[in-house]
Amino acid sequence: MSSELSVDEITAIETVNDVSAARRRGMTIALEMGFDRADATRIAVAISELARNIVVYANQGMIRITSDHNAEPPYIQVIASDNGPGIDDVDLAMTDHWTSSRGLGLGLSGSRRLMDDFNIETEVGRGTTITVTKWLK
Ligand SMILES: Nc1ncnc2c1ncn2[C@@H]1O[C@H](COP(=O)(O)OP(=O)(O)OP(=O)(O)O)[C@@H](O)[C@H]1O
Ligand SMILES: [Mg+2]
Repeated sequence: MSSELSVDEITAIETVNDVSAARRRGMTIALEMGFDRADATRIAVAISELARNIVVYANQGMIRITSDHNAEPPYIQVIASDNGPGIDDVDLAMTDHWTSSRGLGLGLSGSRRLMDDFNIETEVGRGTTITVTKWLK
């Protein structure tokens, strides 16, 4: 497989347009890597939810998408990071339907279900970094 399928790109996230751009890039990269449409959509939705959280709760941040098609197995990884307010109670935030605003409370828990691996690092007053990964099987 050609190494051009290994990418590392950052999208600054501040507006809903940025959310859409990051989601579309994730979809395109995933399809190029050989993920089927269902999995590429799962990846795109996870990116969209994490990016939307950045806009809503932290105002700005970034989405970094990396992929390595030459790895065994190939994977796509998404890092959503911001220097926003952080999350006080991560277990609560990860609970289905729990929201601090008027959301559905499904963004984080849903993203975890849609991806193979989910890691969150957050500190109140400092920000949040969420890393999600899906392997090509
Ligand atoms: N980047 C972030 N910075 C600070 N708090 C966050 C961040 N992302 C999520 N949270 C907190 O975690 C909670 C749960 O997030 P989640 O995305 O699961 O649900 P939601 O955004 O409330 O609703 P929705 O289902 O519409 O996304 C949020 O209500 C918010 O309190
Ligand atoms: Mg959300």
